[in-house]
Amino acid sequence: MLKFENVSVTYPSGTQALKNVNLEVKEGEFIVIAGVSGAGKSTLLRCINGLIEYTGAQIDGHVYFDGEDVARASRRRVREIRSQVGMIFQEFNLVKRSSVMRNVLAGRIPKVGSAKALFGMFRPEDKKIALASLDRVGIVEKAKQRADKLSGGQMQRVGIARALAQEPRLILADEPVASLDPITARIVLEHLKAINEESGITTIVNLHDTVLARAFGDRIVGIRDSTIIFDEPVDQLDEGTFEEAIYGAALSSHEYRKVSKRSDEQ
Ligand SMILES: Nc1ncnc2c1ncn2[C@@H]1O[C@H](COP(=O)(O)OP(=O)(O)OP(=O)(O)O)[C@@H](O)[C@H]1O
Ligand SMILES: [Mg+2]
Repeated sequence: MLKFENVSVTYPSGTQALKNVNLEVKEGEFIVIAGVSGAGKSTLLRCINGLIEYTGAQIDGHVYFDGEDVARASRRRVREIRSQVGMIFQEFNLVKRSSVMRNVLAGRIPKVGSAKALFGMFRPEDKKIALASLDRVGIVEKAKQRADKLSGGQMQRVGIARALAQEPRLILADEPVASLDPITARIVLEHLKAINEESGITTIVNLHDTVLARAFGDRIVGIRDSTIIFDEPVDQLDEGTFEEAIYGAALSSHEYRKVSKRSDEQ
């Protein structure tokens, strides 16, 4: 479904955010991209949904979506491809003053057109799909509530419902749980995982937390200093070497406490 062939990305600042990335994603996979801040995770997702061009970055190599090179597709084709890709963001990106339902209906915009959507002209079938999407993540009873009245975990479930309402073939989630507490983070990731298992929607999730990456990824792609340093099924990852590869050095719990203490003092 997706294929990166020798992809390098250089931002106008001169930062090379990806170096010779090769990656293949099959339909139905659930992949976690793991890496520390600045490793290149968001850049990798942006290459898939055709958002790199807005940053003015230079893309070398090829990113194929169903055999079509996204980096060289026409604007119209990129829009069509993007309509098949549901995005989930760290900060949820909801319209705070709108109702939950309106937020989820935004996922239908590619299907109804933005002019009609602007006037709220959604069809009954769009509303049905939006409600079913909310039901899928267990918050259909919140449909009429204003988005800013929800907890963080509920907001992210609305984010997932909006992506689902798009009836996407691919879901890209960029640090979807980085703003949530550990328990809520797991609940949100469990929803994403269940959706992947039940609907077979291919899912790629960026996570900087190696514990969560290990708990949820079927396949883990490790990225460090703009390059892929490993790409393995989760059960083949060696305890310890995974963290060492991602963070650059194995942190003993003693060292970890020292690092945490230092960052607390700052
Ligand atoms: N729009 C941009 N313009 C210039 N440089 C950028 C831009 N976006 C990212 N970068 C740089 O590219 C590198 C990779 O950034 P990217 O956002 O892909 O990393 P990341 O792994 O998603 O990090 P984080 O976990 O902090 O989100 C970093 O050095 C970053 O400063
Ligand atoms: Mg990022």
